[in-house]
Amino acid sequence: MTVRPGQKGTAGVEEVPRPDPHDGALLVRGRAIGVCGTDREIADGAYGTPPSGEEQLIIGHESLGEVLEAPVGSGFAPGDLIVGIVRRPDPVPCPACAAGEWDMCRTDGFGERGIVRLHGYGSEQWRVEPDFAVPILPRLGELGVLLEPASVLAKAWDQVDQISRRAFFQRGRALVTGAGPIGLMACLLGAQRGYEVHAVDLAQAGRKRDLAEDLGVRYHAGDAAGIDVDVDVIIECTGLGSVAHSAAQRLASGGIMCLTGIMNLDAALDLDATTMNRNMVLHNQVLFGTVNAGRRHWEQAAEALATADPGWLTGLITRRVPLASWTEALDRQPEDIKVVVDLTA
Ligand code: BGC
Repeated sequence: MTVRPGQKGTAGVEEVPRPDPHDGALLVRGRAIGVCGTDREIADGAYGTPPSGEEQLIIGHESLGEVLEAPVGSGFAPGDLIVGIVRRPDPVPCPACAAGEWDMCRTDGFGERGIVRLHGYGSEQWRVEPDFAVPILPRLGELGVLLEPASVLAKAWDQVDQISRRAFFQRGRALVTGAGPIGLMACLLGAQRGYEVHAVDLAQAGRKRDLAEDLGVRYHAGDAAGIDVDVDVIIECTGLGSVAHSAAQRLASGGIMCLTGIMNLDAALDLDATTMNRNMVLHNQVLFGTVNAGRRHWEQAAEALATADPGWLTGLITRRVPLASWTEALDRQPEDIKVVVDLTA
């Protein structure tokens, strides 16, 4: 699965050399790749960087593979299902990367497999370093491909938990904006923590609503500002300024709001910085952004998937496409939640 970053319309399938042993001691047979908004942005020429000296990038950062070769003592064996971690530390390194917290890199000198400066996992075979591989329970099978998006939400919730310890706090209500794959994962992790979870999305009915309600989530179709309760936590998963702005009006005193979506210019957003300042100061509110995930979040995500209902997780995967026609995964269809490329087909 290749693309030339910066050049729209270059996504396709190409023969590439066998993976270089320098890329990691584990040789892996690729099983599946999940496709997300970041991949669509890269395919549109709006994001992504090829490895130094190359024009082409092997895309794919939501991985699942089966170990073919593993050195003795690596902790892995042939047949193991694994997922590859996305980010690699700034080689210089930056102080956060040096401390093992590459998801908090201070310099932007990091690499991200399939996104920034490093080839991804969208190939029939790939390699990974044992330290950057996460084992998947055999019974999860294909559902392991959901680990990467789950890791991003595990980090978001982990930070909410840490921030909430600053003062008195109760796990009361949480609001998730957007019921796509990221929003539904945010709902799952919030419900697992015992929050009364609310979700807002534009869709009146359909699979997104059903999946949210299957978790016990209270689903609201329409504008976040219109929901009938105030909430202690907001996880913003749409990347739309107008949605974030509406949702913020429902944040209770002492509340914590987390931004996971990346905003583009939103003409509908009339950001009133003065009102925002008064709300945040007079109500002790916290607003923070989060990206990527550190090792412990991948492990938390693996735990969250292991305890989730496998039937519910299966419902998130709405379409599968074979490697040869993987670019069809980039076209959004109305009923899509998570679209997965089958690297074995
Ligand atoms: C990925 C993250 C990555 C971010 C920015 C997201 O789609 O899930 O791992 O850090 O894009 O590149």
